[in-house]
Amino acid sequence: MTTAIRSLNAFGILDSRGYPTLRVVATLDNGCTGTASVPSGASTGRHEALELRDGDSSRYGGKGVRKAVSHVNQIIQDHLHGQAAAPQDAVDATLVALDGTENKARLGANAILGTSMAVARAAAAASGVPLYRYLAGASVPRLTVPMMNVINGGRHAQNSLDFQEFMIVPHGAPSFAEALRYGAETFHALHELLHKAGYSTAVGDEGGFAPNLGTIEETCELIVAAIRKAGLRPGPEVALALDPAASSFAKDDKYVFAKSGNMTFSSAELLDLYDRLARTYPIVSIEDGFGEDDWEGFRRQTASCGDRLQIVGDDLYVTNPRFIRKGIESSATNAVLIKLNQIGTVTETIQAVQMCRDAGWRYIISHRSGETEDTFISDFAVAMGGGQIKAGSLSRSERLAKYNRLLGIERDLGPGAAYASPF
Ligand code: PGA
Ligand code: ZN
Repeated sequence: MTTAIRSLNAFGILDSRGYPTLRVVATLDNGCTGTASVPSGASTGRHEALELRDGDSSRYGGKGVRKAVSHVNQIIQDHLHGQAAAPQDAVDATLVALDGTENKARLGANAILGTSMAVARAAAAASGVPLYRYLAGASVPRLTVPMMNVINGGRHAQNSLDFQEFMIVPHGAPSFAEALRYGAETFHALHELLHKAGYSTAVGDEGGFAPNLGTIEETCELIVAAIRKAGLRPGPEVALALDPAASSFAKDDKYVFAKSGNMTFSSAELLDLYDRLARTYPIVSIEDGFGEDDWEGFRRQTASCGDRLQIVGDDLYVTNPRFIRKGIESSATNAVLIKLNQIGTVTETIQAVQMCRDAGWRYIISHRSGETEDTFISDFAVAMGGGQIKAGSLSRSERLAKYNRLLGIERDLGPGAAYASPF
């Protein structure tokens, strides 16, 4: 049964940083509706699909989204009106053709993605199944191990840390609910340790603490101490993951730690640093360890540590099958960070996931640093079956909304729900 799209209604809302973004409501002929809100990154890859902003400095410092809103309400609605809400790939093909540019610059990836996700939700409602079931199709849904960003730095916090994300990964928990508890208890223990040591316990964009810690080593030590303090085993129960987001400190062919004191590293020296860190701390995953143009740096790391570590490309691939193919052909990494708004439609995101599956690579479904209360990625991650999600820390409700939705899905799936470590 197909159900036609009756209307699309977009409006501007605010994201977790207080900047405008889009919410889109899709209504079908049968009265079913789907609503979706679009996230927004801060440390964006240069090749991401274009997030359309008004550039009118009298509103929100130029970050208004009135143009993108009007593109949904006029151009997109005109074209999608009457089209079947399913299959999703036909809807997304219409959107891609209507935009007609390589990077969705005409209509805006925010306008297109909001529509794509809202239509998927409406179609799921029309078929009477939860979103994760609808998106999974014939494949088996799988619960996700969370990567929780408990210390924020880089472009996500005004502190002394050059690395953007220090994450905990409660992969040894017996269920998602227990993984969430491991994460929360470690977060609370970390709060206590930081407070006792006289550090700030204010949080950054993704809800992790943003203290002025001295070094990367000190930061890892503190997290390991927090895991222990929570009564958990660092490594087998709760591991560590890093997202240095190295594009944000890449300068020409060097890497400069400007926030912590102007140390300069070559790509080879940075590789040595990661290697030392991974031998000292229970690190299972390193994302964007090198800048988005330093393919050779990624390749060297994958060749030397890829058997022990998950090496993830985020800015490197921007969820774009074109770049992921290049990565697979050159063994640049062994995993990909997947973000819907980097590419701009649900279907193209699924294609990126499929490419990873075909190559035997891992993939992690991810939020953005600017988020909303929308929980689309929780359903999407379970549906894609990769077993990993990156959705921020254990504070700030736009992050917890994703984890709380996963709790709901776990209940829904019942005793058959599979929670298993990919490491
Ligand atoms: P962003 O950061 O959403 O600011 O790009 C997230 C990440 O780098 O993984
Ligand atoms: Zn990243």
